[in-house]
Amino acid sequence: MSLRLGDIAPNFQAETSMGKIDFYEYLGDGWGILFSHPADYTPVCTTELGAVAKLKEEFAKRNTKVMALSVDGLESHKGWIADINETQGTEVNFPIIADKDKKVSELYDMIHPNSNENFTVRSVFVIGNDKKIKLMITYPASTGRNFDELLRVIDSLQLTANYSVATPANWKQGEDVVVSPSIKTEDIPAKFPKGHKVIKPYLRTTPQPDL
Ligand code: BEZ
Repeated sequence: MSLRLGDIAPNFQAETSMGKIDFYEYLGDGWGILFSHPADYTPVCTTELGAVAKLKEEFAKRNTKVMALSVDGLESHKGWIADINETQGTEVNFPIIADKDKKVSELYDMIHPNSNENFTVRSVFVIGNDKKIKLMITYPASTGRNFDELLRVIDSLQLTANYSVATPANWKQGEDVVVSPSIKTEDIPAKFPKGHKVIKPYLRTTPQPDL
């Protein structure tokens, strides 16, 4: 099934390194990240899962739960988690789906046969608290992901869900944002009392409104 932004993220039940989990129950009313990696006991994936484990508090601040997936089995996951903890100096603190029958990988279209017939690529889905897909990115097996970028995108998504703003190129938490085109320039002062700049009639900026 091909998923697109704005679609409802499909629910599933899966065996994971933390027991059998219903995805929606796991997410509760918060945000989620579902990400796949090609295989256990591989170097880039080892660093990725260690990096995600170290960001536990950052995800918690954003009310976001993470879940990983590979098509390897539970026993493999358990041994590999011990290796990740040892080599990356952390504790893997989120579930890893053992998707041996590829049920979830296929549901989320994580196998791209022209890249590799048998393994998942590095897919990432960010899922909002309304269970809709807010972001999808796909990396090749040879490139580890930048999880700080995922935090940055979640900051942008959570901000723009609540205010009529968008975030410009390379925006980071605390920087000025762009006022949505749907807001008339004369209405900006009432909506954004911290001030604004009109650079062009279609390009108006204001300090980040939720700080
Ligand atoms: C890795 O995680 O290191 C990896 C996995 C599949 C292909 C290449 C690298």
